[in-house]
Amino acid sequence: MDTLETRIAIKRLHPLFVAEVTGIDLTVPVPREDFRVIWDAFNEHQILVFRDQHFDDESQIAFSRHFGTLETMIAHPGNDWNPGHISVMTNLGKDGNFLPPDHPAMLHRERNEAWHSDSSFKPVAALASLLASRIVPPVGGNTDFASARAAYEALPAERKAALEGLTALHRMTYRDMDNDKGYKEEDKQRHVVTHPVIRTNPVNGRKALYVGSHAQEIVGMPPAEGASLLDELTAFCTQPQFVYSHHWRDGDAVMWDNRCTLHRATTFDKTQYKRKLHRTTIAGKTPDSAFARMPGA
Ligand code: OGA
Ligand code: MN
Repeated sequence: MDTLETRIAIKRLHPLFVAEVTGIDLTVPVPREDFRVIWDAFNEHQILVFRDQHFDDESQIAFSRHFGTLETMIAHPGNDWNPGHISVMTNLGKDGNFLPPDHPAMLHRERNEAWHSDSSFKPVAALASLLASRIVPPVGGNTDFASARAAYEALPAERKAALEGLTALHRMTYRDMDNDKGYKEEDKQRHVVTHPVIRTNPVNGRKALYVGSHAQEIVGMPPAEGASLLDELTAFCTQPQFVYSHHWRDGDAVMWDNRCTLHRATTFDKTQYKRKLHRTTIAGKTPDSAFARMPGA
């Protein structure tokens, strides 16, 4: 009789990663058995795309909590100085009008246009992020994703072996971009952590490169040498064959695994088109790094 039973369907959107999940409304309480399907898909496909989910902050937070404890952001330009669980990716001020291009919040968000993994500068790096549309631009403003798992798996065996055991130093601020963006020296020093260059997903044992713009030095290597190795690895991960570009539609929500993917914002006409996406960020469960002193500081 029950022909209307919801059935979650999972469809790959890229040969190597990214799946679209249909047949479920995430804005209402999600049963445990449905969450299990989503959790398994998340670990397998690394990026999950959900369409026609019209989240508000409350329902987005409620769904995100299935994945674990949410990160709480301090007040900063990226969340309109509202501390809490929501980070706001937008070119609009609180009044809904366009922000001028030199506004601190615009400069802060421009950093998202560099490939990165969210919160990799924290001692417990983020497990996942859920970015959900509020207002989407008609043209541009895609979010690009790269599979650092597929990239790792494509490395020759001897390269994998050479990278095994390396540790990178991650900073909140970006090497080349941030000197003039209003960050105080103490902010730059505050978040300096180390993480392994190769991370293993404990659920399925799959390994991935853990690099991106926050990763800036290799522990035990001269800074410039480590930086160029990390740049090379980030460039390797972000080759076209490992990249999926998400064009945002109204009602879209995309969840990504920060342990094995990199992402970046792409630009759009920020004086013509409005863009507003809200992000919740799920903290990692196990401390997989320790605070490190910044070499040479
Ligand atoms: C983020 C992010 C990219 C974008 O939300 O963490 O990097 O396209 N966003 O807004
Ligand atoms: Mn990000």
